[in-house]
Amino acid sequence: MAMQQTLIIFKPSAVERGLVGTVLERFERKGLKICGMKMMQLSEELLREHYAHLVDRPFFPLIIGSMTASPVIVMVLEGLDAIEVVRNLTGATNGRKAAPGTIRGDFSVSGQENIIHASSSPEDAEVEIKRFFKSDEIFDYKLNALPFLYSADEIEG
Ligand code: PPS
Repeated sequence: MAMQQTLIIFKPSAVERGLVGTVLERFERKGLKICGMKMMQLSEELLREHYAHLVDRPFFPLIIGSMTASPVIVMVLEGLDAIEVVRNLTGATNGRKAAPGTIRGDFSVSGQENIIHASSSPEDAEVEIKRFFKSDEIFDYKLNALPFLYSADEIEG
């Protein structure tokens, strides 16, 4: 159990379909703290870095087209075990296979147009947050609701 930060990208499928607020509400209602948030137009160069493990896949040009189709919103969320918590809320990569009740399960029928990206491991989260945010764009503030989100031993332990 550790306080973690994770990176979320609201993909063009969320922006174009007007789902940003609905999805963000799920993260807020869960109890995740927003530490950073901004809109940006992704470049092919940045996407080649972000999806480096996929550049040789046949569908990679489609990823570039999809992820540059509109600006995206990037966000840093914080919480205990935030990486796993957010991935569980997000659901499986392919929206057709993602469980109902998850973001992709409820809002996506696609493996590409799957609403959000969420970091998959603590190592990835650290690299991805630095990739999309400058240090002064991430806010370290006290969330006064913390004692109502976690027990004292969860926060201190
Ligand atoms: S892997 O290696 O296939 O398991 O890759 P993964 O880390 O799950 O990331 C897949 C990301 O590529 C996006 N994408 C597609 N995946 C599979 N098939 C097709 N056709 C495809 N097109 C795009 C998919 O949305 C995943 O993006 P992220 O942002 O990581 O969710």
